[in-house]
Amino acid sequence: MAEPILEVSGLVKHYPLTRGILFRKQIGSVRAVDGVDFTLGRGETLGIVGESGCGKSTVARMLVHLEQPTAGTIRYKGEDITGLSGRALKSVRRRIQMVFQDPYTSLNPRMTVGDIIREPYDIHPEAAPKGDRARKVRELLDVVGLNPEHINRYPHQFSGGQRQRIGIARALALRPEVVVADEPVSALDVSVQAQVINLMAALRDEFDLSCLFIAHDLSIVRHISDRVAVMYLGRIVETGGDAEIYDRPTHPYTQALLSAVPVPDPEAREHRERIILAGDVPSPTDIPSGCRFRTRCWKARERCASEVPELAVPAGFRFAGGPADHASACHFAEEKQMVSAQDMTDDHPAGLV
Ligand SMILES: Nc1ncnc2c1ncn2[C@@H]1O[C@H](COP(=O)(O)OP(=O)(O)O)[C@@H](O)[C@H]1O
Ligand code: SF4
Ligand SMILES: [Mg+2]
Repeated sequence: MAEPILEVSGLVKHYPLTRGILFRKQIGSVRAVDGVDFTLGRGETLGIVGESGCGKSTVARMLVHLEQPTAGTIRYKGEDITGLSGRALKSVRRRIQMVFQDPYTSLNPRMTVGDIIREPYDIHPEAAPKGDRARKVRELLDVVGLNPEHINRYPHQFSGGQRQRIGIARALALRPEVVVADEPVSALDVSVQAQVINLMAALRDEFDLSCLFIAHDLSIVRHISDRVAVMYLGRIVETGGDAEIYDRPTHPYTQALLSAVPVPDPEAREHRERIILAGDVPSPTDIPSGCRFRTRCWKARERCASEVPELAVPAGFRFAGGPADHASACHFAEEKQMVSAQDMTDDHPAGLV
């Protein structure tokens, strides 16, 4: 793997769960992120996938210092940046930027597009001399495929896809090295999702970015990720190279997610196995003992309730060199192909490249 740019280890975020108005008493905690480890290599794109509420945004917010971890460390180019403050924090913040999920709420409606994209320079004046900023903003508009003439327009004058382009331009203003994109296309129409993803892939290459690309659907990250991590209830349950996860998932949760991704060919769709998970995701205030997926897993046995499965290459696949040789947090990991290789190479219906 490429030299690591971000190394996350033992990352935890617990929110106190309180009761009472006058005398607030802590009665438990919301274990939003419950021990997450991953490495992002320089120039690499890591996709993070999982259902709503599994802790994806909380991980993203901790990486850009919008949230302080309860435990764990975040290293940037080998330096522990977890507890930084003041000037040291400011200089790191410039290098790790975020693209937010909802372009409708993340842009200030009373600011012009020019002011929105220029704002990062007010916080980091060293990034561009004053006289140079208007030119830079126009350049950024052009880079994300918007008309630089529209610099004085307001967010409501743009479509959803165009607004997300504004959010991307703002994230690029300080020339970051890492971009954390938190479900950047989830709020957009399917027809424009592909355009925005393709734009992000092109900008990643042009600006030499390392990316964390978060989504709740495996089919979205496949086209942009080198590696994928699947999250469930605050933890990563399976991680590996793009082909390993899509071709030979070994964790039952990933297999269930993959059994639901859209497949373009109707015949393939008819013949494939659909795994319908039982019940709902448990509350992060009351995480099951042992394997946290066991209440919904069709393979669960006694051991699953008592022993936490570690995220590691399962013994049977270790050193095998095949696509199943990747980390999976399951005592009974087995390879299972959910989507045929043919469907994997087919064009996405929405035009992803
Ligand atoms: N500030 C907060 N206080 C309490 N609970 C929170 C807070 N932020 C998030 N949570 C809870 O943490 C869990 C993970 O949330 P989030 O990271 O937003 O998930 P995702 O982005 O995967 O949908 C959810 O159960 C959510 O309700
Ligand atoms: S450890 Fe047990 S409950 Fe968890 S995913 Fe594997 S088989 Fe299912
Ligand atoms: Mg989220």
